[in-house]
Amino acid sequence: MKINLIGVPLNLGADKLGSNLAPKTYREANIIKIIKSIGFEVKDCGDVEVLKANEEDKYKHHPNLKYLNEVIDANTKLAEKIYQSLSNGDFALVLGGDHSLGLGSIAGASRAIKNIGVVWIDAHGDINTHLTSPTGNIHGMPLAASFGVGHEALVNLYEERIKVKEENVFHIAGRDLDKGEIELINKSKGQFYTMDKVKELGIEKVVEDMLNYFKDRVDAIHVSFDLDSIDSLFAPGTGTPVENGLSVDDAKFILESLASSGMMCSLDIVELNPLLDKDNKTLNIAIDIIKNTLNKLKLSLSNELSA
Ligand code: ARG
Ligand code: MN
Ligand code: MN
Ligand code: MN
Repeated sequence: MKINLIGVPLNLGADKLGSNLAPKTYREANIIKIIKSIGFEVKDCGDVEVLKANEEDKYKHHPNLKYLNEVIDANTKLAEKIYQSLSNGDFALVLGGDHSLGLGSIAGASRAIKNIGVVWIDAHGDINTHLTSPTGNIHGMPLAASFGVGHEALVNLYEERIKVKEENVFHIAGRDLDKGEIELINKSKGQFYTMDKVKELGIEKVVEDMLNYFKDRVDAIHVSFDLDSIDSLFAPGTGTPVENGLSVDDAKFILESLASSGMMCSLDIVELNPLLDKDNKTLNIAIDIIKNTLNKLKLSLSNELSA
C-alpha cells in the first residue's frame, strides 16, 4: 500500500486568499521526504488543477454559492483522483486547500467504498446549505451536501447519488455553529460531539464512542481534518480560527486512534493558510499530525501482516 499524495490549491470555497498556497507550502517543507522516512512508498498525484477566477465570477452561477462552477470543477477532478487511489488499494492523503474539497474527497472515496463512514473534525459544522449559509462560502457546506442536504449541484457532484448516509457521519469539535446548522443537528441522525461535549466527556471517551460506533457499521472511514478544530491559540494559520478548541494532543489522539483502528482509508488535512500563520506554527502542527498518524498507520499495517 502506497500513500497517494494529492494537493488541492483551492481557496475559492473560502473566498479568502491563502489556503491555495498550502500544497506548495507542504511540499517545500519536504512533506514527501517526511512520509517516506516513516517507511511508506509515496505516489505524488500532483496538485488538482483549479480554474482561474476573479471577483466577477463569484456570483455568476448562484447568488449564495460563491464560485460554484470552479469549486465543482476542482472537486470533480479530486473525486476521480481519490477514487483511483482507493481502487488501487492505496491510502489517499489530501492536502488542502479550503474545506470545500471534502465534497470531492467523499464523492471519490464513497465510489470506491460502498458503505463509508466519515469523521469530520472541525470548529464549524460545515453543514450549511445555500439557504442557510450566512456567507455563501461553499467550504461551510460540504458535509451536508455529502449526506444529501443542499443544492443539487453539490449533492450530485461527480455522481448523482448521496455519498454518505447521515448516520455514518461523526462530527467532533464543533463550537462555531450557525443557526441553520444547529437546527439541522438537532434533528440529525449523525453523531455530533461538540466541544462542550468533548470537555464534558473527555477525549478518551469521545474516541471510544467513535470507534464503537463505527465498528460493524461501515466498511472504511474517510477522515476530514480541519486545522481550525485546534484551538486558535495554537493554530492561528487558518482562515476562520476559533478559540476554545482541541489541544494539539487531543487532535493527535483522535487521528492516531483512527489510524490504529485499521478502518481509515483516506485523510484530508485542510484549511492551512500560510498567509495567516505565525512562525509556521500551524504548518508545523499539521506536519506533526501527519507524521504521527501515518506512523500509527504503518504500525497497524505491520501488525496485520505479522498476525
Ligand atoms: N459557518 C461559516 C460559513 O458557513 C464558516 C464555515 C467555515 N468552514 C471551514 N471549513 N473553515 O461560512
Ligand atoms: Mn465561471
Ligand atoms: Mn471545515
Ligand atoms: Mn472549520
